[in-house]
Amino acid sequence: MESLEQLDEILSCRLDVGRKTVKPCTVVIFGATGDLTSRKLIPALCHLCADGQLPKPFRIIGFARRPKTSDAWRAELRQSLLARPSEFEAAQWEAFAPNVFYCTGEFGDPAAYQNLRAQLDQFGPELSRSLIFYLATAPGQFPEIAEQLHKAGLLSRGDESGDGPRLVVEKPFGTDLASAQRLNHELTQFASEKQIYRIDHYLGKETVQNILMFRFSNSVFEQLWNRQAVEQMQITVSEKLGVAGRGEYYESAGALRDMVQNHLLQVLALVAMEPPVSLEAEDVRDEKLKLLKSIRPFETGQVAASVVRGQYSAGEIDGVKVPGYRQEPKVKPDSTTETYVALRLLVDNWRWSGVPFYLRTGKRMTASCSEVRIQFRPTPHVLFAAQCGKNLDANSLTLRLQPNEGINLRFNGKAPGINMEIVPVRMNFDYHSQFGAYTPEAYQRLLLEVIANDSTNFIRRDVVEAAWSIVDPIRQAWAGLPLAQSAFYPAGTWGPPCADELLARRNHKWRMTSDIAPKPATPAP
Ligand code: BG6
Repeated sequence: MESLEQLDEILSCRLDVGRKTVKPCTVVIFGATGDLTSRKLIPALCHLCADGQLPKPFRIIGFARRPKTSDAWRAELRQSLLARPSEFEAAQWEAFAPNVFYCTGEFGDPAAYQNLRAQLDQFGPELSRSLIFYLATAPGQFPEIAEQLHKAGLLSRGDESGDGPRLVVEKPFGTDLASAQRLNHELTQFASEKQIYRIDHYLGKETVQNILMFRFSNSVFEQLWNRQAVEQMQITVSEKLGVAGRGEYYESAGALRDMVQNHLLQVLALVAMEPPVSLEAEDVRDEKLKLLKSIRPFETGQVAASVVRGQYSAGEIDGVKVPGYRQEPKVKPDSTTETYVALRLLVDNWRWSGVPFYLRTGKRMTASCSEVRIQFRPTPHVLFAAQCGKNLDANSLTLRLQPNEGINLRFNGKAPGINMEIVPVRMNFDYHSQFGAYTPEAYQRLLLEVIANDSTNFIRRDVVEAAWSIVDPIRQAWAGLPLAQSAFYPAGTWGPPCADELLARRNHKWRMTSDIAPKPATPAP
């Protein structure tokens, strides 16, 4: 038997799988003065620099319309980073700042790209040849930027090995299948598929990355991961946040395009796909594609039976009154945009035939929480029916993606005492108490993967198109239809009642709120 010390050592042993190899490079960020750059990209790069994970040498150029000098941009970034004192210290910024530069230019102006080129040339051949172009702009600008980069001799189709400049594009990638195909076609004029990195930040989350490791490095659970043992799966991504000043974007996106087409379907693919033959990018992405293609398509006339939408009205979040969606800035007063979607999917393959997958996401809900719940089938016979009633709580396994990241197994146990009382109990793995507080931000990990030329956690062309094929019929079925009165839910609730009815029709129900927000764990010593 192992001693406690040995056990501790085993538990804390982390397999350092696939440490990234990074080569010197320059990252050019288009849309450098935007919110994403200051809130996510620069902090992620600064963290990577402080952790010694960036290649040496390394440069960043911010490219945007607003005229300013590199010094002025540095001053702005410094201020926004140091406004997060729990995360950044002045010394970290000082070490990072000399790598940061700025280039003023209109996205459609060829002269601006010549300036960019001249600036890159000053960095010397090593840094001016290994280039990453991060398009943190509106998707409508992707093709123009790619074309201008190409004309300036900065971007061209490399060989299929993915060598050559890389293009990183943010979501939303298109607004439907046709526009995504068009965008794919336009981008691949100037870069090969291997050079294009379509970001879905959910794939950079620690717990989402753990899904594959959890499934395929443990023999216990994978044996149960099929229609024989699983009765249903639920994927919830709920947010307390409203549209947070993004009314204009959200009006044309809605929850279906903003969350389901990308984040929820990606999580579903990881949870339900077959084991890949290796961890190589193409092998993992092949399996995801197969899974998405196995989802039974929605027939336009039958969408209402499997999908419900909702919109928040005024309500209260944590005791604070918040306006309804229609009262948010830049939102039409009679908007029919959905801020909530719940749907039931069937996966027509050998493993999952007949198992319903319920997905839901919404803004302004009771709690901010993302999790996957695997609900197992009930016991074939309830031996304790006379003592405890016929309805035993079914076993479930919950992957808590955020917050309180962890994994939770729920099963029945006997309450101590002379009576036969059965109560559901939990076995809980909690990231925080096991590994301490630090988990890298999604963008930190994903940026490092782009620098290391690893596209495993990025969405391939056929995968993004398959995801649009799933959601397009839903949007078509909704087009032009008003929102039913029953679709409205007050902010601070778990969504419209029709979402409960969607499950109740099959005697299922969403998991209880009290289960969803477990008590925070005690931090590790
Ligand atoms: C983004 C959506 O992709 O994801 C936002 O555009 C949403 O509307 C956000 O709020 C949720 O991400 P996270 O990491 O906070 O769960």
